[in-house]
Amino acid sequence: MNSDGPIGVFDSGVGGLSVWREIVRALPHEDTIYFADQQHVPYGPRGELEIRRFSDAIAHHLLERGCKAIVVACNTASAAALKHLRETLPHVPSIGMEPAVKPAAAMTRSGVVGIMATPATFQGRLFKATAGRHASGVRLINQVCDGLADHVEAGDLDGPATEALLRGFLRPILDAGADTIVLACTHYPFVIEPIRRIAGPDVAVIDPAPAIARHVRTVLAQHGLGHDTTHAGRHRFVTSGDPGRFSAAMQRLTGVHAASEAARWDGGRLEPAASHA
Ligand code: DGL
Repeated sequence: MNSDGPIGVFDSGVGGLSVWREIVRALPHEDTIYFADQQHVPYGPRGELEIRRFSDAIAHHLLERGCKAIVVACNTASAAALKHLRETLPHVPSIGMEPAVKPAAAMTRSGVVGIMATPATFQGRLFKATAGRHASGVRLINQVCDGLADHVEAGDLDGPATEALLRGFLRPILDAGADTIVLACTHYPFVIEPIRRIAGPDVAVIDPAPAIARHVRTVLAQHGLGHDTTHAGRHRFVTSGDPGRFSAAMQRLTGVHAASEAARWDGGRLEPAASHA
């Protein structure tokens, strides 16, 4: 691995940008390539094997583009594929999302923690292992948030339909007495404001992205893969969906205006396609 190479970051769509922006903040001298698999978003209702196949091909595509490390900026893909990526690509540092049950368990005073995630994240072994390790003595309310990632993809962050959906998801969590909520899907930090508003000031909402970015810094340092700190990071964006729509969504969500490139799925592999502004 070359320490001048970019960090590869991927998600099913725009959600992983909540992690990407923290990585850029924590590591301003690193180059990145962000990949959004918008042809297949959402991953949440899909089966483990299918998500693993997508993740595998995306990781290889990022490595072909020279990436020195892979950040799986998607809880659903981490649940389905992180272990597999580490086993099949042992020379590549791979960092994934683990639901922030540990900090939530340390923080809660009511002893009740709400977890918001996709169906596939709750079904995965990673969640069960994390919950088993860190949640003893704490009651977890696991709330499947079907359809919420689609609202974020569509740019509906605070409209009446998203608000109604959030109220429905938060009701069982709040009724159970949770004082801490974990956002265990990288799309959800983009709706953290309405979540906070509905949950009220006595409920802490945990976005794990800053902690993941710090972890990326640690892992790069451990592998001697940090970029020269005089370098100013450059960023590329690739989507298997529509590049124009990706760039518009990214600007709305992060304020960053940048061109993005297209990649096409072709028989289970990703091929570069024409780029767009
Ligand atoms: N952003 C993804 C996650 O963190 C999932 C959204 C989806 O594709 O269902 O779980």
